[in-house]
Amino acid sequence: MSSTDTRNESDRVLIFDTTLRDGEQSPGISLNRHEKLEIAQQLARLGVDVIEAGFPITSPGDFESVQAIAREVEGPVICGLARTSKQDIDAAWNAVRDSQRPRIHTFIATSDIHIERKLQTTREDVKGQVRAAVAQAREYTDDVEFSPEDGSRSDVEYMAEVIQIALQEGASTINVPDTVGYTMPGEYAAMFEQLYRLVPDLHRVVVSVHCHDDLGLAVANSLAGVQAGCRQVECAVNGIGERAGNASLEEIVMLLRTREPTMGLWTGVDSTEIARTSRLVSRLTGYQVQPNKAIVGRNAFAHEAGIHQDGVLKERRTYEIMDATTVGLRSNSIVLGKHSGRHALRKALQEMGYELDGQVLNTAFKRFKEIADRKKQLTAMDLEALVTDELRGEDVRGYVLDWFEVEASSRRPPHARVSVTLPEGGSAQGAFTGDGPIDAVFQAIDAATGVGAKLSDFQIGAVTEGQDALGEVSVVVEVGGTSGAGQGVSTDIIDAAARAYVRALSVAVARSRSGGAVGLPETAAG
Ligand code: KIV
Ligand code: ZN
Repeated sequence: MSSTDTRNESDRVLIFDTTLRDGEQSPGISLNRHEKLEIAQQLARLGVDVIEAGFPITSPGDFESVQAIAREVEGPVICGLARTSKQDIDAAWNAVRDSQRPRIHTFIATSDIHIERKLQTTREDVKGQVRAAVAQAREYTDDVEFSPEDGSRSDVEYMAEVIQIALQEGASTINVPDTVGYTMPGEYAAMFEQLYRLVPDLHRVVVSVHCHDDLGLAVANSLAGVQAGCRQVECAVNGIGERAGNASLEEIVMLLRTREPTMGLWTGVDSTEIARTSRLVSRLTGYQVQPNKAIVGRNAFAHEAGIHQDGVLKERRTYEIMDATTVGLRSNSIVLGKHSGRHALRKALQEMGYELDGQVLNTAFKRFKEIADRKKQLTAMDLEALVTDELRGEDVRGYVLDWFEVEASSRRPPHARVSVTLPEGGSAQGAFTGDGPIDAVFQAIDAATGVGAKLSDFQIGAVTEGQDALGEVSVVVEVGGTSGAGQGVSTDIIDAAARAYVRALSVAVARSRSGGAVGLPETAAG
């Protein structure tokens, strides 16, 4: 009998993914609708239980993204965030209502500092708002989650009264966040133990943890909550989120899986999809994963010391507590070569879970040929980077890089010329002599487009190892105070950088023309 046959449903920990809501609130991240949908589809493949798809009231773009995810992504519950106001709850409901499994998540702060200073109201008023909000949400759906924001810094007895009201009105999940990442494991566990005592009805519903990583304790605190009885963990892929981020999904899942024999807790996540999900989120958000990051860092399964290498060769478990294949790390084996045809590309992509046909396949094939001409042999990770880069849909009609030329030598400053297709039609050329080849190309793009952008972040990474590796570049620019992020992939790092820069510029210009704000209301959540 396998361990899955003996598992108890009451030991299952639900994974509530907030990459697209709290994660998307990370500075500089701005995903378009297509990118959010692609991440949500991958989260469904990963097997998360709930996808918090966004905060629909914050902008028409966020509303449309949540709605698209609710309409197209099958499997997980699709959740929209709302403050306690009627408009917020209406917006959240209208965005998620087409999902087969819609959820409204409403929140309001319960700590005195938030009530008095931020909301400038009273404890009694907050209670009234919770009653009205949960009751309104329950008119739309049975699946309503309530969070007392800044719960870990709230007076527990008062918070218990608020939670009791949410339960009376029919909330089915109660999430108590450590909004500012201040609590410690023992303290967080004790808070839940006290809440279970003060509000016995909590035993009837799902109690959830939501931890931020300001002191590096988000995963430890989440685990403490789970050990105190909570059965939902709110987390984000690669740990992205407000400030220092949220608890990292991959760390929680692998922690529960690796220590299942000790704790007896489990999740429904297919861990072999973790590495791919992490790469997709990193690529689309432009947030690179630190090399030594647990589970998904480049070095997470690498052994440097001779003694360790020797031990692992003799018996893997001497120095490895997890097998790299359980998190879906792909082998670097060659899947396609320079002479592979369209059919071979389609088949290789199909095996990786991408169904491409018609014009989309033609576009991917054209780009594959360009890269294969230079790289000769492509691995699965190269193909994944290529499809993510090439098939990314755009919400806005932006600039397109037609070509660039750079003259560089050790004796003269580099000179770049570029041609860019403009959103309004036609193309424009620009030239610039810069400090380095990438600087020259970026400034030539500015000259061609007439947009004065300020580069605020620039990162280079390699998709695979080796001299002919595909390079990935992430760029964040600011145009008149509005930021935009873009990524590019190519065997040529200047080409990857130019693609990334043009995309970032397109996003920033479109956002600043639409009034800039894809921003959150002042009292938005963290
Ligand atoms: O950190 C927080 O308090 C939040 C709530 C909305 C759950 O993100
Ligand atoms: Zn949060």
